[in-house]
Amino acid sequence: MKILVTGGAGYIGSHVVKALGLEGHELLVYDNLSTGHEWAVMYGTLVKGDLEDRALLEKVFREFRPDAVMHFAASIQVEESVRRPLLYYGNNTAGTLNLLDVMVRTGVRCLVHSSTAAVYGIPDVVPVAETAPLAPINPYGSSKAMVEKILADLALAEDFRYVAIRYFNVAGADVACRLGQAYREATHLITRALKTAHGQYERLQIFGTDYQTPDGTCIRDYIHVDDLAAAHVLALDYLTEGGASEIVNCGYGHGFSVREVIEAVAHVTGTPFPVEETGRRPGDPPALVADSSKLRSLMKWEPQYDNLDFIIRTAWEWELALKRRESCAA
Ligand code: UFG
Repeated sequence: MKILVTGGAGYIGSHVVKALGLEGHELLVYDNLSTGHEWAVMYGTLVKGDLEDRALLEKVFREFRPDAVMHFAASIQVEESVRRPLLYYGNNTAGTLNLLDVMVRTGVRCLVHSSTAAVYGIPDVVPVAETAPLAPINPYGSSKAMVEKILADLALAEDFRYVAIRYFNVAGADVACRLGQAYREATHLITRALKTAHGQYERLQIFGTDYQTPDGTCIRDYIHVDDLAAAHVLALDYLTEGGASEIVNCGYGHGFSVREVIEAVAHVTGTPFPVEETGRRPGDPPALVADSSKLRSLMKWEPQYDNLDFIIRTAWEWELALKRRESCAA
């Protein structure tokens, strides 16, 4: 199949491009390279472009004529979204509107969309199922919840089907160490902790120790990026076999606290590092853990890497490889 992948040069997008490429699909990656990298696109053609640029987007659609779209291009940091809400509504909500408009006008009817656990806000029941009410507590979650509403309305109005995958905390790196997170500034817990163990930061801050959780720190469901990538391939197969529009959670169904992650990083790297307890970070829910039974039963998702130490080890090997790459380039 011909698949257009927005954001395919980014962290998650590049792992999905790898998985789709291995399946033999013909790929076009549309990415503005704001956080992504040309070297991360292992398969297909890269077009540097922004979702704001409707003329370019439409030209690319008309020339490539994709059978389906996978949409990763987005801003993804909870804390930044609290400081810069318009950036998030612009990139995530308005950007997706542009994409959908071009899809409809060029007759592309299938979409696999990146959504997020942040749409739930502070769920009453954990693990949280897809039927839980949407009550985002930060602009990032709101920007994605709005897109889900738009998708639902569009699927009623047009011959258009989608799977929206609500990601929990994606981490780790390609097992063969060819891809991984490579943001200029690390904000995600595991990457930030690894870079601290590596000496790039003086200490790791724990944002909040007074949550209603067993050790007072936030709990998240950390999932290996290649298990998430596999879920995307299954979602695409599901849609191309005629499946109806669906929203599915993607996580392992159990969580780890910030303190537990820090311990695991120190253990895997063999390098204990300084930690500082500070106040809560705005926009953080206490606990987010997935009930992914729908993804498992409907799309036959069988995760391979449900092991926190393994996830951290792949991210650590990638971190070391990235440092070698940077020092060679310098
Ligand atoms: N944290 C720290 N110190 C740090 C970094 C993070 O204590 O230096 C804490 C955060 O406060 C939070 C937890 O570690 O409690 C995880 O934070 P991340 O920044 O790694 O991830 P988030 O949970 O904020 O968000 C991530 C993605 C979102 C997604 C969400 C779903 O960035 O896109 O997971 O659970 F929506």
